[in-house]
Amino acid sequence: MLALRYHSIGDLAGLGLEDIPVPVPAAGELLVRIRAASLNPVDWKVATGSFRLLVRGGVPRTMGSDFAGEVTAIGSGVTTFAPGDRVFGFIDPFRRTAGTFAEFAAVPAEYAHRLPDDLGYRDAAALACVGATAVTLCNLGQVGRGSQVLVNGASGGVGHVTVQVAHARGARVTATASAARHEFVRSLGAHSCIDYRTEPMDRWPDEFDAVLDCVPNIPRAVQRRLLRRRGHYVTTVPSAATFMLDPLANRCGGVQRHGVLLKPDTRVMNELLGYVAQGRLRCAIEREFPLQLARDAIERSRSRRVQGKIVLVI
Ligand SMILES: NC(=O)c1ccc[n+]([C@@H]2O[C@H](COP(=O)([O-])OP(=O)(O)OC[C@H]3O[C@@H](n4cnc5c(N)ncnc54)[C@H](OP(=O)(O)O)[C@@H]3O)[C@@H](O)[C@H]2O)c1
Repeated sequence: MLALRYHSIGDLAGLGLEDIPVPVPAAGELLVRIRAASLNPVDWKVATGSFRLLVRGGVPRTMGSDFAGEVTAIGSGVTTFAPGDRVFGFIDPFRRTAGTFAEFAAVPAEYAHRLPDDLGYRDAAALACVGATAVTLCNLGQVGRGSQVLVNGASGGVGHVTVQVAHARGARVTATASAARHEFVRSLGAHSCIDYRTEPMDRWPDEFDAVLDCVPNIPRAVQRRLLRRRGHYVTTVPSAATFMLDPLANRCGGVQRHGVLLKPDTRVMNELLGYVAQGRLRCAIEREFPLQLARDAIERSRSRRVQGKIVLVI
């Protein structure tokens, strides 16, 4: 089968399509014929060495974490899926060396979700990781009816779904995006927009209940200014401070800081699929690429200018 692999971490020079054996699913895993995968920044960040301390398993690695396709075989102990089932989800890019930018991938059953009949492979692959991230951001930020929410980076993969989830929960959403994309984020449910290129952060309105930082780039002092007392700041890229300092600081009151650490969670996926079924959430796909042009797709993602998502069709 074809797989997009790399043999060293640091740059993408050695990244290329290789013909390798189809994996055999281990206990608790499904073998999935991948039909579509979507690109997340973490895929190339792992390959270029941004997360050296977190990455397990060495090289070679097959890139990719989101997937959608059909189950072709199951490992021992799997009772929840059978060959022929249509599934989607994401795998842990830090721990799995065999990613999803390939014709087949073995995925742990708990990371797979049944695909509703009316959701196509491309839309599902686009949604998996960013959708779970968006709902987790809103959960950690305690976003609900009437919440005043700032979504920073609202036109990107995570941001554009976060706007929709917060809006669907009844929040009033302020979105940051470059001016050309304000109409896009308004169409997703944002009530007001800030052009982060011309409006410095110290002039952004304050008194938010939650700041959901999908860039993320808001300094701690600015977080404090933007938020009401005991408001929530949630980042998509947790740091050492998120785990060591913030849990203690949160107990003292003031800004409550959290970071998203994705785990498979059926409730999170069900919330997303509920919005999709109600027509209240859609993933905007900026462009689709065949697996053979994955390098071009990665370059586009590395520009940090993608509106919505990039999908690989396999
Ligand atoms: N913890 C997790 O599990 C998890 C999951 C998913 C993603 N992440 C992380 O979350 C971050 C966002 O991921 P993503 O998939 O949304 O990335 P993305 O799709 O590449 O984001 C691109 C968007 O970022 C916007 N942007 C760039 N610089 C900005 C700035 N200074 N202010 C506001 N917006 C800015 C751009 O908006 P304009 O075009 O309008 O300028 C563009 O639309 C990444 O660092 C990713 O690694 C973490």
